[in-house]
Amino acid sequence: MADLELLTIKIQRMILDAQTTDKPLTPPLLIASVSRCPSINFFNVDNIEFMKTKPDKYYDLAIVDPPYGIDKDGGKIGGDNCGKAKNYTKKEWDKTPPPQEYFNELLRVSKNQIIFGANHFISRIPFNSNCWIVWDKDNTGNFADCELAWTSFDTAVRKFKWRWNGMLQQNMKDKQDRIHPTEKPIQLYQWLFINYWEKGMKVIDTHGGSFSIAIAADKENVDLDICEIDKEYFDAGVKRYETFKRQMRLF
Ligand SMILES: C[S@@+](CC[C@H](N)C(=O)[O-])C[C@H]1O[C@@H](n2cnc3c(N)ncnc32)[C@H](O)[C@@H]1O
Repeated sequence: MADLELLTIKIQRMILDAQTTDKPLTPPLLIASVSRCPSINFFNVDNIEFMKTKPDKYYDLAIVDPPYGIDKDGGKIGGDNCGKAKNYTKKEWDKTPPPQEYFNELLRVSKNQIIFGANHFISRIPFNSNCWIVWDKDNTGNFADCELAWTSFDTAVRKFKWRWNGMLQQNMKDKQDRIHPTEKPIQLYQWLFINYWEKGMKVIDTHGGSFSIAIAADKENVDLDICEIDKEYFDAGVKRYETFKRQMRLF
């Protein structure tokens, strides 16, 4: 809302400038079209209850990262051969993958899906896929080398390589300061949007976590609804997104 107000004020100022000088009106109109703000909505709710409120195929694309059921929901993460471990509040959300009802709802409300961790619960997605996505984390030590995402797309298997190895990240000059035990890189989500999203598509993420996806969506101009059930994660994720927006406004 604040962005929209800012944009409106900016356009009004530029129109005024154009009227009071001899400048043509073309430049302000151009700037307005470049500065479109995406609609990014955060919901502190249970995702099944949220999806139940939506009609069939309401979303064009679902990009989701559910619990894998591997107990990585806090405590010390990292720190084997790559520096100090980070200590996260221990939670209970990664005991089991979501129930079948979750997948039924997800496939009902969305036209296409990208589902991370599906190798852990493939029996709950009863469809073959030509197009698994491989995220190569360039890892060594005790971490998994890659993460896999099942997709509903008909294209070929694709790989995205982005180092995410404890303290070591692909872009060490602009490191992502993690706030969540299973946080994914913003660049991974940007890559997904660039390759699997088209202008005008509405996206849902049912398991927001750190809201890395919200920052990526903002950068790529994607309209997105995000659910996160945990209040502590939710508040931290919204704060992180607001900080990002504030920094963007300074430039
Ligand atoms: C694997 S993490 C997602 C991490 C995220 N992709 C990121 O980059 O930070 C799964 C998240 O789903 C949340 N969650 C678990 N069950 C949920 C539910 N029923 N509804 C909404 N969120 C849920 C957990 O609190 C956790 O933050």
